Amino acid sequence: NAMLQWQRTGFHFQPPKNWMNDPNGPMWYKGWYHLFYQYNPDSAVWGNIAWGHAVSRDLVHWDHLPLAMVPDRWYDHSGVWTGSATILPTGQIIMLYTGSTNESVQVQNLAVPADPADPLLKTWVKSDSNPVLAPPPGIGARDFRDPTTAWYDPSDDTWRIAIGSKDGSHAGIVIVYKTRDFARYELVPGVLHRVPGTGMWECVDFFPVAVEEGPAAVEGMDTSAAGDGVRHVLKASRDNDRQDYYAIGTYNAVTNTWRPEDEGMDVGIGLQYDWGNFYASKTFYDPEKRRRVLWGWIGETDSERTDLLKGWASLQAIPRTVLFDTKTKSNLLQWPVEEVEKLRMSSKNFSMITIDAGSVFPINITGGTQLDIEAEFEIEKAALATAVEADVGYNCSTSSGATDRGMLGPFGLLVLANGRLSEKTAVYFYIARGTDGNLHTHFCHDELRSSSASDIVKRVVGSTVPVLDGERLSVRILVDHSIVESFAQGGRTCITSRVYPTEAIYNAAKVFLFNNATSASVTAKSLTIWKMNSTFSDPYTTQA
Ligand code: FRU
Repeated sequence: NAMLQWQRTGFHFQPPKNWMNDPNGPMWYKGWYHLFYQYNPDSAVWGNIAWGHAVSRDLVHWDHLPLAMVPDRWYDHSGVWTGSATILPTGQIIMLYTGSTNESVQVQNLAVPADPADPLLKTWVKSDSNPVLAPPPGIGARDFRDPTTAWYDPSDDTWRIAIGSKDGSHAGIVIVYKTRDFARYELVPGVLHRVPGTGMWECVDFFPVAVEEGPAAVEGMDTSAAGDGVRHVLKASRDNDRQDYYAIGTYNAVTNTWRPEDEGMDVGIGLQYDWGNFYASKTFYDPEKRRRVLWGWIGETDSERTDLLKGWASLQAIPRTVLFDTKTKSNLLQWPVEEVEKLRMSSKNFSMITIDAGSVFPINITGGTQLDIEAEFEIEKAALATAVEADVGYNCSTSSGATDRGMLGPFGLLVLANGRLSEKTAVYFYIARGTDGNLHTHFCHDELRSSSASDIVKRVVGSTVPVLDGERLSVRILVDHSIVESFAQGGRTCITSRVYPTEAIYNAAKVFLFNNATSASVTAKSLTIWKMNSTFSDPYTTQA
């Protein structure tokens, strides 16, 4: 349906057609980045899950390759589900994935490249030992999936992997296995972690970050890194609310435990990678650029009927580098990989734009369909001091969004907006007093007016963002036809929205600044808007 083609993105990863979900087995190998992904070769809805495969030199321009694995064995007959890659010190690649068997039991399987000398890794061989793991006693046959990348434990010379599940009382849990050959495994007693009430944990990820200021803190860490100044991030994708939660904590390999730094902000109840649409994510360590990179699946929020009409569904988020925030010491920083900046074309710069309380300020650009935006705001200092009653208990997701009028917000940008502002996606800050008496900055997306189409889930989403003394409010926004991905305060809080404007497309897509606060003016200290180049991928040429 050509009418819907404008929804396809210019610089986000997506297959030429059909359904995609989780990123799988991301890695860098012999000069190429590899991305595998959950894929239905036959339709734009979930089913017949195989592994799609694409390669890139720069994480931005992708070539699509033939399917890497298809459900052709009894142990993955109902789907070649999510998995992770481990590259051993010898250079050997281990791919572990979940198979849903002919009886829909979740088992773990091993695959290796047929020809390790082929940098494109086009052909995969499933091990004769498969399945290498079946659900252990006490774990449901359908609650045992998505093995992590393995990490090395020098204390007993084994490799360990984690797998997400839930226990009998509906707590999310992580179980750990050890292995020397990736064919035979031993269950490590106990659970690595457990959080009551959080349900099934899918796509667990577990990786180290450097927490002391210094050179290590600006690079990523290889998955097996450990020692002083290292903490471990545990991430779980909560099946029951479809959000990716993480916490930073301390890992003890000997006791097989991981404890969050802050119990009140545990996995599944505290921080999220992204407060919008972002799920089943996975990181990998990129040895070439010495960084940890995060991939996340961005599903559709339109109807299945529309997905079938357009013939495709889902995107991957722009890959993000992940670091510990050594300033706040309480969160990660996520930022689009630097290669994205190669796509920046012409830019427009603005500075010192004052947006009066209750006003909208049009930015003079045309064709705001593929953009990279950076903006810094400052709110009138006097207003901050006097707003004693400012919206105690404000919460993005229970608010009515950008049309609210509070004392100190909302203010920010409208993107993918049409001229008469009947369609727009608001990316905004809202400063409110917390129940603790202090001012807190909220960062939100208002999707409620993002499309005049009616078959779409439209929400207000977001969370608080830490702002330290002396910092300006800053935001970066990637706009790409039907996706808006935002990063506040250098990536402390991130939000991704799928949006489906019907009028604010191509040359009609505009950008505005707005300020709906009642008693404060806001100044955009700086605003830079780049038009972004496209990264068209080659169509399938080799796939039958
Ligand atoms: C997450 C997930 C995984 C599973 C895969 C199946 O979206 O449900 O747990 O392995 O998708 O496609």
